[in-house]
Amino acid sequence: MIAITGATGFLGSNLIPKLKDKKVKCLVRKYIDNSKIDPVVGDINDTVSVNKLLKKTKVLIHLAAVIDSKNKKDYYKVNVQGTKNLIDSCKKNKVKRIIFVSSMASTKDYLDDYGKSKKEAEDLIKNSGLDYTILRPSFIYGKNSNSMKKMISFINSFKFIPIVGNGEYTLNPVHVDDVVKAIISCINSRKSIKKTYDILGRNEISFNEFINVISEKYNIQKRKIHIPIPICLVISSVGSILGPSFPLKKSFVLSLESKYKGTIASAERDLNYSPISFKEGLNK
Ligand SMILES: NC(=O)c1ccc[n+]([C@@H]2O[C@H](COP(=O)([O-])OP(=O)(O)OC[C@H]3O[C@@H](n4cnc5c(N)ncnc54)[C@H](OP(=O)(O)O)[C@@H]3O)[C@@H](O)[C@H]2O)c1
Repeated sequence: MIAITGATGFLGSNLIPKLKDKKVKCLVRKYIDNSKIDPVVGDINDTVSVNKLLKKTKVLIHLAAVIDSKNKKDYYKVNVQGTKNLIDSCKKNKVKRIIFVSSMASTKDYLDDYGKSKKEAEDLIKNSGLDYTILRPSFIYGKNSNSMKKMISFINSFKFIPIVGNGEYTLNPVHVDDVVKAIISCINSRKSIKKTYDILGRNEISFNEFINVISEKYNIQKRKIHIPIPICLVISSVGSILGPSFPLKKSFVLSLESKYKGTIASAERDLNYSPISFKEGLNK
């Protein structure tokens, strides 16, 4: 039996159909009627439901997380405390194997609140004594991806495309199907135990190129306007006075130029990982 947290999210809902013949139990916050899974209703911090999830389980795939919140405390509560609660319950229920989906955001020199929480969660997993594998995807995209939907509606809400700084900082978007394949490879791979893998797309692209590929795909014909970083920092500081929902956050601006240094070499070697490029993925 495989237990999954975060099954209702973007990554989880792409993973579940690919688990085909495997028996799956999922922690869900609201009951869902899905013949493929056995739902256990509860929160990640609720010990009773987590114990129910992990009873008679062999492998835990831990995807649940807060990735975008107006309330800083949510990152710690769900991503760190929630992970600790799962680890304790794994020990109690003798679940040895855990596959944890972290993020490349945990590897940057400048860590925002999300990155900090994922790093702390990784440390808890590494020190847990469990047979762990940590996967660190970069920006995940694919059909029905919330982040991509947000990006397009953001672009559509302006007459031009506002870009923070010169847009030459890079990212390495990964298609959700590639992340799903990496998770499935880990399930039966002894080689991946006690290892951490960067799960990136085929190639690194600048943010300017990223916008060009999206514009071409969705036929958006707008000019890019580059806003210097110091001006973005002033806008984000003023915006923060307006409230936590102001979209341009200081931590986001500061984290943009802090590059993560990832490589897919270990995943290629151990997990047969072979990702597609952003252009291919967007046209999938
Ligand atoms: N999306 C990306 O670009 C990206 C990039 C790198 C790494 N990751 C990592 O990949 C994993 C999956 O991301 P995703 O894009 O699928 O995120 P998502 O769509 O936001 O889904 C998050 C999932 O976590 C669940 N969850 C949140 N708080 C919970 C709580 N208190 N108790 C139980 N479940 C809770 C949500 O349940 P509800 O449906 O009830 O809200 C949902 O199923 C995360 O660990 C994330 O850090 C994502």
